[in-house]
Amino acid sequence: MTTPAARAEELAALERVALACTACGLAEGRTQVVFGAGDADADLMIVGEAPGQREDEQGIPFVGPSGKLLETLLGEIGLDRSEVYIGNVVKCRPPRNRDPRPDEIDACGDYLRTQLRLVDPKVVLTLGNFSSKLLLKTTTGITRLRGTAYPWWGRFLVPTYHPAAALRGSARVLEEMRHDFSLLAKVISGEIVRETPPSTEADHNGVTPVPDTDGPDDNPPAQMDLFA
Ligand code: URA
Ligand code: SF4
Repeated sequence: MTTPAARAEELAALERVALACTACGLAEGRTQVVFGAGDADADLMIVGEAPGQREDEQGIPFVGPSGKLLETLLGEIGLDRSEVYIGNVVKCRPPRNRDPRPDEIDACGDYLRTQLRLVDPKVVLTLGNFSSKLLLKTTTGITRLRGTAYPWWGRFLVPTYHPAAALRGSARVLEEMRHDFSLLAKVISGEIVRETPPSTEADHNGVTPVPDTDGPDDNPPAQMDLFA
């Protein structure tokens, strides 16, 4: 592929376009577009849901309470947020933090797809239902998806709960997130590797997920068409 510097420049050019985007109704209520932030050459790309109030004010993803917890969990596996790339499914804050709608997710999808292609991370971490279902192209919910690393477009995808769920939920949610982050650490370090490296597109469909010790899923979901 191209050099990291060239990909970083392409990403910056895409951000300049996105900052003026009015392709969906979320443009009306936003203070600013939250395109994404971090190392454009990162091994790990994290995908959240949508900017909240703090993110909308600052133009940076995960700078509110969810971001604090995310930073803590990353720190526990030896990662600083400056070492990863962080983005969201939609780049503009939905009014009163409502769920993003399918038409908005659709309208914003090409930004995310291009971010994933340009950062080209070894591992993708999806936080919560919206990013996990979108990238794994499934209607299965996060409770059933999590706990497993899925082979995904020649790399791995690890789905886990959204930090906001841990902040308002039980201690069990946080415990399961810690479990998923330790799985993530093993995938990043290469301790967990696929048996046969996929070399063709056909290999990406119907591949066996790499289960964690208590991984629940036998059937990997179909996947977002990253290179379609
Ligand atoms: N929640 C998200 O999903 N993304 C952010 O950037 C902040 C909170
Ligand atoms: Fe454009 Fe995405 Fe913002 Fe909608 S949410 S206006 S598609 S950047």
